[in-house]
Amino acid sequence: MTNMITHETEVLANEEVKPGFYHLYLSAPVLAEVATPGQFALLRCASDNVADPLLRRPLSFSNAFPERGEITFLYQVRGKGTKELSRLRAGHLVDVMGPLGTGFRLPDHRQPIAIIGCGVGVAPLIYLAHYGAQKGHEVYTFLGARSRDSLLYDPILVANSTDIVVATEDGSDGIKGNITALLKKYPHDLKMCGSAYICGPEAAMEAAASICNSFGVPCQVSLESIMACGVGACLGCTCTTTRHVNYTRVCTEGPVFDAQEVFFHG
Ligand SMILES: Cc1cc2nc3c(=O)[nH]c(=O)nc-3n(C[C@H](O)[C@H](O)[C@H](O)COP(=O)(O)OP(=O)(O)OC[C@H]3O[C@@H](n4cnc5c(N)ncnc54)[C@H](O)[C@@H]3O)c2cc1C
Ligand code: FES
Repeated sequence: MTNMITHETEVLANEEVKPGFYHLYLSAPVLAEVATPGQFALLRCASDNVADPLLRRPLSFSNAFPERGEITFLYQVRGKGTKELSRLRAGHLVDVMGPLGTGFRLPDHRQPIAIIGCGVGVAPLIYLAHYGAQKGHEVYTFLGARSRDSLLYDPILVANSTDIVVATEDGSDGIKGNITALLKKYPHDLKMCGSAYICGPEAAMEAAASICNSFGVPCQVSLESIMACGVGACLGCTCTTTRHVNYTRVCTEGPVFDAQEVFFHG
């Protein structure tokens, strides 16, 4: 939890990139310097620090640009908090607490990495792809979504991917099928990766992790849970892992875990 603090940030832009999916750009020079891929922040969702909804909502950093002091979040509108977030406009002030949690670990050598994202689960992986490419890793990207309308082709993800393949469940883009079908269709790209990184609904993560495991590719997953304090105090975010069967905290010990230590409940 080094450098964790609350920051008053300013909205630079809040763009609807696909129906119900928004890209939020904030001016936050300190966070842009210290946040690492896979870490997250708790955002107060209403502008100018209005306290409704009371609890901040967790979002993973979808990128950080220290050179221009910006951070970004990619989010889907689900309920009250994210609806409020979508109303923010340039110039609004937002209270952001972070960076929180334990992020992704890259392989030691410059081995290729696989990015496996389903729906808005791609958010933290955009930052990882950008960061990994800067560190000299080739990035092989596998994207899944229900349809073209929820397929999040982020330009920075595309620019940093050596190759990118896509599946949609309705066949409106890429191959027709889910993430499992996509990984099975392109096993060569996956098998040459030193590590894979998966984020999306739990059932999809479990299935993708099982394929990576069968190919001998170690993988990390980013888990979601409902959160309150975000700093390990309330036990409101626990998941089940081999570390502590009843109370592994997603907010501090995660959100990133080795897939093999997680008991999925998808
Ligand atoms: C570490 C972490 C990182 C996350 N990163 C992102 C991200 O980058 N982009 C993104 O779009 N979302 C992300 N989420 C999920 C996001 O936090 C929830 O979608 C959000 O809190 C919902 O708040 P709300 O007020 O809009 O909805 P609510 O009114 O609170 O709930 C609406 C619906 O969403 C469900 N829900 C609420 N919180 C969560 C949650 N944490 N996970 C799954 N379902 C939930 C509820 O059960 C309900 O069905 C992340 C969650 C965690 C824990
Ligand atoms: S949210 Fe309080 S312990 Fe994780």
